[in-house]
Amino acid sequence: MISIENLTLRIGGLTLLEEASALIPEGRHVGLVGRNGAGKSTLLDAILGHIQADSGSISMPRRARVGFVAQEAPGGSATPLDAVLAADEERAALLAEEEAGADGARIADIHMRLAEIDAYSAVARGASILAGLGFDATMQARPLSEFSGGWRMRVALAAVLFARPDILILDEPTNHLDLESALWLEDYLARWPGTLLVVSHDRRLLNAVCTHILHLDQKRLTIYTGDYDRFEILRQERLAQQAATAAKVDAQRKHMQSFVDRFRAKATKARQAQSRLKALAKLTPIIVERDEEAVRFEFPEVELPKPPMITFDRVSVGYETGNPVLTGIDLRLDPDDRIGLLGANGNGKSTLAKLFAGRLQPLTGGTMRAAKLKTGFFAQHQIEDMDPRRTAFQLLGDVLPDAVPHAIRSRLGRFGFSGPKADVKAENLSGGEKARLAFAIATALAPQLLILDEPTNHLDMASRERLVAAINEFAGAVILVTHDWSLLELTCDRLWLVAGGRVVPFDGDLDDYRALALSERRAQKQANEKPKSEPPKSRGTRDIGALRRALKTAEEELAKLTAKRTKLEGEAGQPATYSDPAKAAEYARQLKELAEPIARAEARWLSAAEALEAADAA
Ligand SMILES: Nc1ncnc2c1ncn2[C@@H]1O[C@H](COP(=O)(O)OP(=O)(O)OP(=O)(O)O)[C@@H](O)[C@H]1O
Ligand SMILES: [Mg+2]
Repeated sequence: MISIENLTLRIGGLTLLEEASALIPEGRHVGLVGRNGAGKSTLLDAILGHIQADSGSISMPRRARVGFVAQEAPGGSATPLDAVLAADEERAALLAEEEAGADGARIADIHMRLAEIDAYSAVARGASILAGLGFDATMQARPLSEFSGGWRMRVALAAVLFARPDILILDEPTNHLDLESALWLEDYLARWPGTLLVVSHDRRLLNAVCTHILHLDQKRLTIYTGDYDRFEILRQERLAQQAATAAKVDAQRKHMQSFVDRFRAKATKARQAQSRLKALAKLTPIIVERDEEAVRFEFPEVELPKPPMITFDRVSVGYETGNPVLTGIDLRLDPDDRIGLLGANGNGKSTLAKLFAGRLQPLTGGTMRAAKLKTGFFAQHQIEDMDPRRTAFQLLGDVLPDAVPHAIRSRLGRFGFSGPKADVKAENLSGGEKARLAFAIATALAPQLLILDEPTNHLDMASRERLVAAINEFAGAVILVTHDWSLLELTCDRLWLVAGGRVVPFDGDLDDYRALALSERRAQKQANEKPKSEPPKSRGTRDIGALRRALKTAEEELAKLTAKRTKLEGEAGQPATYSDPAKAAEYARQLKELAEPIARAEARWLSAAEALEAADAA
């Protein structure tokens, strides 16, 4: 159990927590939620003992091993697998001792302890965690220094999961993940046996993983039992109840006041009036908590070119060294397009985004771009690359050298940097605040094409909704890379799949893609587990057309079943359902019944796909 008592935390002239208390139960999964800048990361710092509380206390079970993913990504020449294995310090120490040559009795002890802590399965366990986070076998063996910051963060995450601490503390763990790895992590954390404290703005993750929600709001902490959806209901009820009580107290006050006003002058009633007056003074006003107004994202009005905005004709693109990353790109972008890019990390989504932004030139092929086309680019690395010593005002000023200070400040205000906040250095801004600043910068010059690479990372839920609205109101074109399903669903009307060195329009919706991604993953896993010497399947007996048809049938069947599941899940998620236990149980039963046929359909689809692939290769 972690116990927080009357905690007050101040930083940079702000009070983030004031006399806040909460108990985090042992072995439970607690989601720490709250607005951007509320103080969640700072609270974690205090729990970890990195900063001192101004008053109050935090206590933890003695000798509990705490695991936390540091903000700094690990580097150096070790491989991801080495780095992960080293995270289990006890195992590493025992192995070192064994190697150094201990005496016989000690060796026996060492071996016993190694068995106790499951050390012999360590390599397999570490490798499976890394695989879940997207590292294939060759990647696991490359030195860390060859990986980007995002991938090194995954190594840090893998290491902490591997070390299996008693208390696991994570700050927005899905920010560096793609869709596929985020699904894996959800599943892994849901089965995590120890105490978990996780900061996240990701509703899916919070619902899949959490048994409790700890809400940091208006400098206070409140813990709710249940997942995130449950928390929202409870919180709404609480707000409604508070409002009702406040209204009652208010009515009482008015009534007393009128009594006092009427009788104060009358000598006979003066006594009663006096006592009512006292009672009135005792009626403390109820302060109704309110959800604060979320910051708005206002993208500038733009003048649009005539379609098409950009066309590529058999373009290939890549970097100076090595082969082209993508070839044969035949695409057209129109001013009102909303395009979601699909495909696992490393497939070249960011390369394609840079090509559209004009930051990378085609190696071969023809290109047409509308005259005076301006693109706005938002990406994670822009947040990381911000000069930490410059303020929001200075950073936006760099992009708008001709703007007067007043104009810069008013633009900053519209992105949530009002008053003194505009003069805080970037290094002291919270993750969400930095993301908002990056938006203000990316859209400052009124671009007609917005390229957004994981734009919802760091943003709180209310800001995410506002961002969706802003994207939908924006008149120009949008190209989106994100692992946020709901963002894709709510904003994109076309999907392009980046895979195997090509980019092709994806013929299907997001559910189709989810099914595809999951089954591909399973196929990959099976391929890894299969012994290499397996005899090749007999082929050539069936014609390719029949295999294609079989694949199509399997695909359709799978799509039908998953659509049914989505529908059931949607209905099960309605308040009318979960407030009625009988109904909820019925939905749960139906969903459970569907699981088996879906698994079978996936297996059929998979073997059909494999058969076709084998026949194609033959
Ligand atoms: N040294 C400092 N000077 C001024 N303000 C600071 C300083 N350090 C932190 N802050 C402010 O404290 C607030 C809390 O920051 P913190 O990083 O804890 O927020 P958070 O809840 O984790 O937000 P997010 O969801 O965006 O990550 C922010 O408004 C931040 O700008
Ligand atoms: Mg934070």
